[in-house]
Amino acid sequence: MQKKYHNEKTYLDILDINPEPIGLFTFPLSKHIKYKNQLKLIYENASNDLRQEFHNEKNVQHICNISNQNLFNSFSELNELKSDLQKFVLTYIEFLGYECDEIIINSAWLNKSDEKSTLAYHNHCNSYISANYFINYNPDLHSSLTFRNDRASLGRNQDFPFFKLKKSKKKSIYNSDVINIDANEGQVIVWRSNQSHGYFEPNKANGRMTLSLNSLPRTIDDGLYKFTISE
Ligand SMILES: [Fe+2]
Repeated sequence: MQKKYHNEKTYLDILDINPEPIGLFTFPLSKHIKYKNQLKLIYENASNDLRQEFHNEKNVQHICNISNQNLFNSFSELNELKSDLQKFVLTYIEFLGYECDEIIINSAWLNKSDEKSTLAYHNHCNSYISANYFINYNPDLHSSLTFRNDRASLGRNQDFPFFKLKKSKKKSIYNSDVINIDANEGQVIVWRSNQSHGYFEPNKANGRMTLSLNSLPRTIDDGLYKFTISE
């Protein structure tokens, strides 16, 4: 809660409702070094049929970023990493206060973003929880991941005409169009997949490498309606 005194007799409390949970997990350094080495090898040696470049993304390459590919299906040496990431997603869901026994990683891919690359704001369909593992990342040189503030007008698709005020010089979480997450290498950001994310700030150096994933609960059950997903 933010409190701001208005004058001697009146004061204002701002109650922050509707919070959006962004998880930030940190791998032990030894695990991160092991996974980083494995993933760098995979990036260097992956066959051409697993590599993608998209015309609307300059200076970016992907491994396994089309719907019939999944990094974890192609590279079984990553089973331990896959299991750790599944546990992160389960822990996140449990922390939010929901029941979930098993997580399917239905898509996983590598991103290598070089100098001057940006990432247009987007969200992930066909997914419940998404995550981004910072494999090779220098926060001084590589762009950080930012999330659209869907409580400010830019982040929301308005169904009707709406009003907009000029922003004052004061910056706040209420007037920011995007919210920056200060992650470091070896950390994993976890979010609800409908959240719009990307970065406008161009990468200042080559070699920004991340692993992205989309995941679903194996069984979707709200106590009334239920189905189970098989892979
Ligand atoms: Fe994304």
